[in-house]
Amino acid sequence: MRLVTAARSSVHPESLADELLARLRVHGAIPRHVAIIMDGNGRWARERLLPRPLGHRSGMKAVREVVEGALQAGVEYLSLFAFSQENWQRPATEVGALMSLLEEYIAREVSELREQGVRVRVLGDLSRLTPAAARAVERVVGETAANEKLTLNLFISYGSRAELVRAMRALAEDVAAGVLAPSDIDDAAIAARLYTADCPDPDLLIRTSGELRISNFLLWQIAYTELFMSPVLWPDFGRRELFEAIVAYQSRERRFGRVSA
Ligand code: FPP
Repeated sequence: MRLVTAARSSVHPESLADELLARLRVHGAIPRHVAIIMDGNGRWARERLLPRPLGHRSGMKAVREVVEGALQAGVEYLSLFAFSQENWQRPATEVGALMSLLEEYIAREVSELREQGVRVRVLGDLSRLTPAAARAVERVVGETAANEKLTLNLFISYGSRAELVRAMRALAEDVAAGVLAPSDIDDAAIAARLYTADCPDPDLLIRTSGELRISNFLLWQIAYTELFMSPVLWPDFGRRELFEAIVAYQSRERRFGRVSA
Protein backbone atom coordinates (compact mmCIF):
# COMPACT_ATOMS: atom_id res chain seq x y z
CA MET A 1 0.00 0.00 0.00
CA ARG A 2 2.77 2.37 1.00
CA LEU A 3 4.50 1.73 -2.34
CA VAL A 4 1.50 2.84 -4.37
CA THR A 5 1.07 5.95 -2.22
CA ALA A 6 4.75 6.79 -2.70
CA ALA A 7 4.48 6.28 -6.45
CA ARG A 8 1.77 8.96 -6.69
CA SER A 9 3.87 11.63 -4.95
CA SER A 10 5.70 14.40 -6.77
CA VAL A 11 9.11 12.68 -6.74
CA HIS A 12 10.70 12.31 -10.19
CA PRO A 13 8.97 9.40 -12.02
CA GLU A 14 12.28 7.80 -13.07
CA SER A 15 13.63 7.67 -9.51
CA LEU A 16 10.28 6.26 -8.34
CA ALA A 17 10.54 3.56 -10.96
CA ASP A 18 14.07 2.74 -9.80
CA GLU A 19 12.94 2.66 -6.17
CA LEU A 20 10.07 0.29 -7.06
CA LEU A 21 12.50 -1.88 -9.04
CA ALA A 22 14.85 -2.18 -6.07
CA ARG A 23 11.92 -3.10 -3.80
CA LEU A 24 10.31 -5.65 -6.07
CA ARG A 25 13.65 -7.42 -6.44
CA VAL A 26 13.82 -8.06 -2.68
CA HIS A 27 10.08 -8.31 -2.16
CA GLY A 28 9.23 -11.65 -3.76
CA ALA A 29 8.98 -13.73 -6.91
CA ILE A 30 9.30 -11.99 -10.26
CA PRO A 31 6.64 -13.25 -12.71
CA ARG A 32 8.40 -15.31 -15.39
CA HIS A 33 5.80 -14.39 -18.02
CA VAL A 34 3.94 -11.07 -18.18
CA ALA A 35 1.24 -10.57 -20.84
CA ILE A 36 -0.24 -7.16 -21.65
CA ILE A 37 -3.40 -6.04 -23.46
CA MET A 38 -2.23 -2.60 -24.57
CA ASP A 39 -5.38 -0.48 -24.70
CA GLY A 40 -6.26 3.20 -24.74
CA ASN A 41 -4.18 4.64 -27.59
CA GLY A 42 -7.31 6.06 -29.26
CA ARG A 43 -8.61 7.72 -26.09
CA TRP A 44 -5.14 9.11 -25.34
CA ALA A 45 -5.12 10.76 -28.78
CA ARG A 46 -8.71 11.98 -28.48
CA GLU A 47 -8.01 13.66 -25.12
CA ARG A 48 -5.29 15.66 -26.92
CA LEU A 49 -7.39 16.33 -30.05
CA LEU A 50 -4.88 14.29 -32.07
CA PRO A 51 -5.57 11.74 -34.82
CA ARG A 52 -5.72 8.10 -33.60
CA PRO A 53 -2.49 7.04 -35.38
CA LEU A 54 -0.60 9.50 -33.16
CA GLY A 55 -1.97 7.65 -30.14
CA HIS A 56 -0.55 4.43 -31.60
CA ARG A 57 2.79 6.18 -32.22
CA SER A 58 2.96 7.17 -28.55
CA GLY A 59 1.98 3.59 -27.74
CA MET A 60 5.08 2.44 -29.59
CA LYS A 61 7.24 4.46 -27.17
CA ALA A 62 5.50 2.75 -24.26
CA VAL A 63 6.40 -0.62 -25.80
CA ARG A 64 10.05 0.41 -25.75
CA GLU A 65 9.88 1.44 -22.10
CA VAL A 66 8.07 -1.69 -20.96
CA VAL A 67 10.59 -3.94 -22.73
CA GLU A 68 13.33 -2.05 -20.87
CA GLY A 69 11.47 -2.52 -17.58
CA ALA A 70 10.90 -6.23 -18.18
CA LEU A 71 14.63 -6.68 -18.81
CA GLN A 72 15.49 -4.78 -15.63
CA ALA A 73 13.03 -6.75 -13.51
CA GLY A 74 14.22 -10.10 -14.87
CA VAL A 75 10.94 -11.10 -16.56
CA GLU A 76 11.70 -13.97 -18.99
CA TYR A 77 8.69 -13.73 -21.34
CA LEU A 78 6.77 -10.58 -22.29
CA SER A 79 3.67 -11.04 -24.47
CA LEU A 80 2.15 -7.91 -26.04
CA PHE A 81 -1.24 -7.88 -27.82
CA ALA A 82 -0.38 -5.45 -30.61
CA PHE A 83 -3.03 -6.18 -33.26
CA SER A 84 -6.07 -8.43 -32.98
CA GLN A 85 -7.84 -10.25 -35.81
CA GLU A 86 -10.79 -7.94 -35.14
CA ASN A 87 -8.52 -4.91 -35.68
CA TRP A 88 -8.50 -5.68 -39.45
CA GLN A 89 -12.04 -4.22 -39.45
CA ARG A 90 -10.77 -0.75 -38.46
CA PRO A 91 -10.57 1.97 -41.17
CA ALA A 92 -7.90 1.22 -43.80
CA THR A 93 -5.93 4.33 -42.81
CA GLU A 94 -5.63 3.14 -39.21
CA VAL A 95 -4.70 -0.43 -40.23
CA GLY A 96 -2.08 1.04 -42.62
CA ALA A 97 -0.71 3.25 -39.85
CA LEU A 98 -0.42 0.27 -37.47
CA MET A 99 1.39 -1.84 -40.11
CA SER A 100 3.80 1.05 -40.82
CA LEU A 101 4.42 1.47 -37.09
CA LEU A 102 5.29 -2.21 -36.79
CA GLU A 103 7.84 -1.80 -39.60
CA GLU A 104 9.20 1.38 -38.01
CA TYR A 105 9.44 -0.22 -34.56
CA ILE A 106 11.42 -3.12 -35.98
CA ALA A 107 13.71 -0.91 -38.09
CA ARG A 108 14.46 1.35 -35.10
CA GLU A 109 14.78 -1.26 -32.38
CA VAL A 110 16.24 -4.36 -34.00
CA SER A 111 19.90 -3.64 -33.17
CA GLU A 112 19.17 -2.62 -29.59
CA LEU A 113 16.90 -5.61 -29.03
CA ARG A 114 19.67 -7.86 -30.38
CA GLU A 115 22.27 -6.27 -28.09
CA GLN A 116 19.96 -6.40 -25.05
CA GLY A 117 19.49 -10.16 -25.43
CA VAL A 118 15.83 -9.98 -26.51
CA ARG A 119 14.46 -12.77 -28.71
CA VAL A 120 11.50 -11.44 -30.69
CA ARG A 121 8.75 -13.71 -31.94
CA VAL A 122 5.65 -12.61 -33.83
CA LEU A 123 2.59 -14.79 -33.24
CA GLY A 124 -0.70 -14.79 -35.15
CA ASP A 125 -2.06 -15.18 -38.69
CA LEU A 126 0.87 -13.56 -40.45
CA SER A 127 -0.49 -14.42 -43.93
CA ARG A 128 -2.52 -11.19 -43.80
CA LEU A 129 0.45 -8.85 -43.20
CA THR A 130 1.55 -6.47 -45.93
CA PRO A 131 4.67 -7.75 -47.77
CA ALA A 132 6.80 -4.99 -46.18
CA ALA A 133 5.56 -5.79 -42.66
CA ALA A 134 6.12 -9.51 -43.28
CA ARG A 135 9.72 -8.81 -44.38
CA ALA A 136 10.34 -6.69 -41.26
CA VAL A 137 8.94 -9.47 -39.05
CA GLU A 138 11.14 -12.07 -40.74
CA ARG A 139 14.17 -9.83 -40.18
CA VAL A 140 13.66 -9.18 -36.46
CA VAL A 141 12.75 -12.80 -35.73
CA GLY A 142 15.82 -14.06 -37.63
CA GLU A 143 18.26 -11.52 -36.19
CA THR A 144 17.25 -12.09 -32.56
CA ALA A 145 16.62 -15.85 -32.67
CA ALA A 146 19.72 -16.77 -30.66
CA ASN A 147 18.96 -14.42 -27.74
CA GLU A 148 17.94 -15.83 -24.36
CA LYS A 149 17.50 -13.04 -21.81
CA LEU A 150 13.91 -12.01 -22.63
CA THR A 151 11.47 -13.52 -25.12
CA LEU A 152 9.24 -10.77 -26.53
CA ASN A 153 6.09 -12.26 -28.07
CA LEU A 154 4.35 -9.72 -30.32
CA PHE A 155 0.82 -10.92 -31.05
CA ILE A 156 -0.18 -9.57 -34.43
CA SER A 157 -3.34 -10.54 -36.36
CA TYR A 158 -4.06 -12.77 -33.38
CA GLY A 159 -7.27 -14.09 -31.87
CA SER A 160 -7.35 -16.75 -29.18
CA ARG A 161 -10.40 -18.60 -30.54
CA ALA A 162 -8.79 -18.78 -33.99
CA GLU A 163 -5.62 -20.10 -32.35
CA LEU A 164 -7.69 -22.80 -30.61
CA VAL A 165 -9.52 -23.70 -33.84
CA ARG A 166 -6.13 -24.07 -35.56
CA ALA A 167 -4.92 -26.34 -32.73
CA MET A 168 -8.11 -28.48 -32.86
CA ARG A 169 -7.74 -28.90 -36.62
CA ALA A 170 -4.13 -30.01 -36.17
CA LEU A 171 -5.27 -32.58 -33.59
CA ALA A 172 -8.04 -33.81 -35.91
CA GLU A 173 -5.54 -34.18 -38.76
CA ASP A 174 -3.19 -36.20 -36.54
CA VAL A 175 -6.08 -38.45 -35.46
CA ALA A 176 -7.23 -38.88 -39.08
CA ALA A 177 -3.67 -39.74 -40.12
CA GLY A 178 -3.51 -42.38 -37.38
CA VAL A 179 -0.57 -40.78 -35.52
CA LEU A 180 -2.66 -39.76 -32.50
CA ALA A 181 -5.37 -41.67 -30.63
CA PRO A 182 -8.38 -39.63 -29.36
CA SER A 183 -7.51 -40.83 -25.84
CA ASP A 184 -4.08 -39.18 -26.19
CA ILE A 185 -5.68 -35.72 -26.45
CA ASP A 186 -4.99 -33.97 -23.16
CA ASP A 187 -3.97 -30.51 -21.90
CA ALA A 188 -0.39 -30.99 -23.09
CA ALA A 189 -1.45 -32.13 -26.59
CA ILE A 190 -3.57 -28.98 -27.00
CA ALA A 191 -0.93 -26.62 -25.53
CA ALA A 192 1.69 -28.10 -27.87
CA ARG A 193 -0.35 -26.98 -30.88
CA LEU A 194 -0.76 -23.34 -29.80
CA TYR A 195 1.50 -20.49 -30.97
CA THR A 196 2.79 -20.37 -27.38
CA ALA A 197 3.81 -24.05 -27.34
CA ASP A 198 7.26 -23.45 -25.86
CA CYS A 199 6.28 -20.67 -23.38
CA PRO A 200 5.15 -21.09 -19.80
CA ASP A 201 1.61 -19.77 -19.20
CA PRO A 202 1.49 -16.08 -18.21
CA ASP A 203 1.84 -15.46 -14.48
CA LEU A 204 0.49 -11.93 -14.75
CA LEU A 205 -1.88 -10.38 -17.32
CA ILE A 206 -2.13 -6.59 -17.38
CA ARG A 207 -4.83 -4.68 -19.24
CA THR A 208 -4.55 -0.93 -19.49
CA SER A 209 -7.13 1.86 -19.92
CA GLY A 210 -9.59 0.72 -17.26
CA GLU A 211 -11.44 -1.82 -19.43
CA LEU A 212 -12.30 -5.07 -17.65
CA ARG A 213 -12.22 -7.54 -20.55
CA ILE A 214 -9.95 -10.27 -21.91
CA SER A 215 -10.87 -9.54 -25.56
CA ASN A 216 -9.97 -12.94 -27.02
CA PHE A 217 -6.37 -12.91 -25.76
CA LEU A 218 -4.69 -16.15 -24.62
CA LEU A 219 -7.93 -17.75 -23.37
CA TRP A 220 -6.38 -21.19 -22.88
CA GLN A 221 -3.10 -19.93 -21.43
CA ILE A 222 -4.53 -17.64 -18.71
CA ALA A 223 -6.45 -20.32 -16.77
CA TYR A 224 -4.49 -19.53 -13.56
CA THR A 225 -2.98 -16.17 -14.45
CA GLU A 226 -3.22 -13.24 -12.01
CA LEU A 227 -5.07 -10.25 -13.54
CA PHE A 228 -4.09 -6.61 -13.05
CA MET A 229 -6.38 -3.99 -14.56
CA SER A 230 -4.72 -0.57 -14.78
CA PRO A 231 -6.64 2.66 -15.35
CA VAL A 232 -3.64 4.16 -17.18
CA LEU A 233 -3.98 4.61 -20.97
CA TRP A 234 -1.33 2.60 -22.80
CA PRO A 235 0.78 5.55 -24.08
CA ASP A 236 1.22 6.67 -20.43
CA PHE A 237 2.16 3.18 -19.22
CA GLY A 238 5.86 2.90 -18.47
CA ARG A 239 8.43 1.21 -16.24
CA ARG A 240 6.88 2.59 -13.08
CA GLU A 241 3.41 1.24 -13.94
CA LEU A 242 4.89 -2.14 -14.88
CA PHE A 243 6.76 -2.34 -11.58
CA GLU A 244 3.59 -1.34 -9.67
CA ALA A 245 1.74 -4.22 -11.35
CA ILE A 246 4.54 -6.63 -10.38
CA VAL A 247 4.48 -5.38 -6.76
CA ALA A 248 0.70 -6.04 -6.70
CA TYR A 249 1.32 -9.51 -8.17
CA GLN A 250 3.83 -10.25 -5.42
CA SER A 251 1.13 -9.73 -2.79
CA ARG A 252 -1.19 -12.31 -4.36
CA GLU A 253 -1.49 -15.83 -3.05
CA ARG A 254 -1.53 -18.20 -6.04
CA ARG A 255 -3.41 -21.36 -5.13
CA PHE A 256 -4.07 -23.01 -8.52
CA GLY A 257 -7.35 -24.37 -7.13
CA ARG A 258 -5.80 -25.73 -3.94
CA VAL A 259 -6.63 -24.65 -0.38
CA SER A 260 -4.53 -21.84 1.08
CA ALA A 261 -1.40 -22.69 3.09
C1 FPP B 1 -5.56 -0.45 -28.55
O1 FPP B 1 -5.89 0.92 -28.42
C2 FPP B 1 -4.27 -0.59 -29.20
C3 FPP B 1 -4.08 -1.13 -30.44
C4 FPP B 1 -5.20 -1.62 -31.26
C5 FPP B 1 -2.76 -1.21 -31.07
C6 FPP B 1 -1.58 -1.39 -30.18
C7 FPP B 1 -0.40 -0.84 -30.87
C8 FPP B 1 0.65 -0.22 -30.27
C9 FPP B 1 0.80 -0.15 -28.83
C10 FPP B 1 1.71 0.46 -31.05
C11 FPP B 1 2.49 -0.39 -31.97
C12 FPP B 1 3.09 -1.58 -31.32
C13 FPP B 1 4.20 -2.17 -31.79
C14 FPP B 1 4.67 -3.41 -31.15
C15 FPP B 1 4.97 -1.61 -32.87
P1 FPP B 1 -7.25 1.44 -29.06
O2 FPP B 1 -6.92 2.02 -30.39
O3 FPP B 1 -8.27 0.36 -29.10
O4 FPP B 1 -7.61 2.54 -28.02
P2 FPP B 1 -9.07 3.04 -27.59
O5 FPP B 1 -9.75 1.86 -26.95
O6 FPP B 1 -8.78 4.13 -26.62
O7 FPP B 1 -9.76 3.52 -28.83
